[in-house]
Amino acid sequence: MTRREFINQSSLSIGAVYAALNAWGFIYPAPAGAFDLQKTDKTGKVLILGAGLAGLAAAYELEKLGYQCTLLEARTRAGGRIWTIREGTQETEIGGEKQIAHFDKGLYLNAGAARIPNHHELSIHYCRELKIPLEVFINMNEAAYFYAEGQGTLANQPIKIRQLHADLRGYTAELAAKAIHAENLDAELSSEDAEKLIAYLKAEGDLVKNNQYQGSERRGYGFAFGATAAEAPAPAFALPDIIKSGLLHPAFSNVGEYTYHQQPTLLQPVGGMDRLVEAFKEKVGHLITYQAEVKEIYNLESGVKVLFQNNSGKTQEITADYCICTLPLPMLKKVKSNLSGDIQRAADFVPYMKTGKIGLQFKRRFWEEDDGIFGGISKTNMDITQIFYPSYGFTNSKGILKGYYNFHERAVRFADLSLADREKQALAEGGKIHPQYATEFENSFSLAWHKIPFSEGGWADYKANDRKLYFPTLLKADGAVYFAGEHTTYLNAWMAGAFESARRVVKQIHERVQAD
Ligand code: PHE
Repeated sequence: MTRREFINQSSLSIGAVYAALNAWGFIYPAPAGAFDLQKTDKTGKVLILGAGLAGLAAAYELEKLGYQCTLLEARTRAGGRIWTIREGTQETEIGGEKQIAHFDKGLYLNAGAARIPNHHELSIHYCRELKIPLEVFINMNEAAYFYAEGQGTLANQPIKIRQLHADLRGYTAELAAKAIHAENLDAELSSEDAEKLIAYLKAEGDLVKNNQYQGSERRGYGFAFGATAAEAPAPAFALPDIIKSGLLHPAFSNVGEYTYHQQPTLLQPVGGMDRLVEAFKEKVGHLITYQAEVKEIYNLESGVKVLFQNNSGKTQEITADYCICTLPLPMLKKVKSNLSGDIQRAADFVPYMKTGKIGLQFKRRFWEEDDGIFGGISKTNMDITQIFYPSYGFTNSKGILKGYYNFHERAVRFADLSLADREKQALAEGGKIHPQYATEFENSFSLAWHKIPFSEGGWADYKANDRKLYFPTLLKADGAVYFAGEHTTYLNAWMAGAFESARRVVKQIHERVQAD
């Protein structure tokens, strides 16, 4: 391939990446606007189905406005997909074995939501308002690894991300810098501009004379730098070796770090994402009835009636002026109702993400001690997909890694294994990157969201057509029933979506009550 062809192709592929991200629903419009509702004497009774973040936030805001809220929650805990696994956490997946977490005190795994992008205003707003301390969630780390299983001289071994990043930046900057003066390519640039662009590319790629990339100190050194005299850094990998080893596969691309929702800085609550749930419970926890499984929802001539199974297995009835249904669509699908056909079709047909995670407790933080990895993510084309290093507890003795976080068929393959086999496979694959797994492992807790009762999916995974056909109906009231949850927003798979939706329905209900 000539350089010109390469450049033409790479600009093509940037377009293709954008199109793919758009199709996957990873490019979102801006969040909703102002929320400045005034308290009046006109209020009402609101029944909220589900005490996940959307339900909790809706109750919190409605109570501020003087409404009387009741929350029905099917589980014995609030929070929904905000779920932190700690010592003693129990879960039995659908068709699965009972699992009990044996993590040490102070160690945890955020099984659901784990990271907060810096521009998710509402997630940060509620942490601020509820006084939840935040710390950095390290989403990228040049000291972590890529591991490409397959053919090629660089395959089947952990490669420091900093080495690949330096080399790829170097080679692509070299190609671009050398191509700038080629016929036609410089047509858009004055020679002064071209020189400035080349100077930038030199800095970007750490190029030397003749705009060549010859390796870089950015790749790091093979020894502790400081006491020893400076040596030349290890030589760059050859570009064909990188390519042939599969390290340009999308599994390793920069896209993750460059995308709007994953750019640094990301944040996490100190002590686990469930701190957020606990804080909401302090405000509205007394309004929650647990182990209340919603079975039927009916719009009445005025108001709404809901039938639920209570903690002794009996059916109970409850009525209210309005209802906010935050049930994930796979759960709404099972509910009997007189809701519109449009709503029922949305519940039936919007696909949900299959995704899973495993927490692996190790008796030694070898990733920190031996590899100098403090937080961040290693990536691989193996089924585990990625390994997350904890962004808390640095230099402590023990720690919990996220041994996999995967999607689609990789998540399904893991989900279909027994708990013991999930652990075995996570250790076998991850052990190729970290041989220390073999001697340092203590215990694990794994989950597959599509098998977790009362969720049955990671998040609404809208394709373009679903967005057109099913999404709009979820934004409107069906009689006295409103719908909230991440699936009723463009911020799917994010807490900010749950919050946006809670505010939308609170506003809709309040405006309707005032107009009555
Ligand atoms: N919010 C989820 C996460 O942070 C899922 C997600 C991943 C959504 C990547 C968009 C992009 O893992």
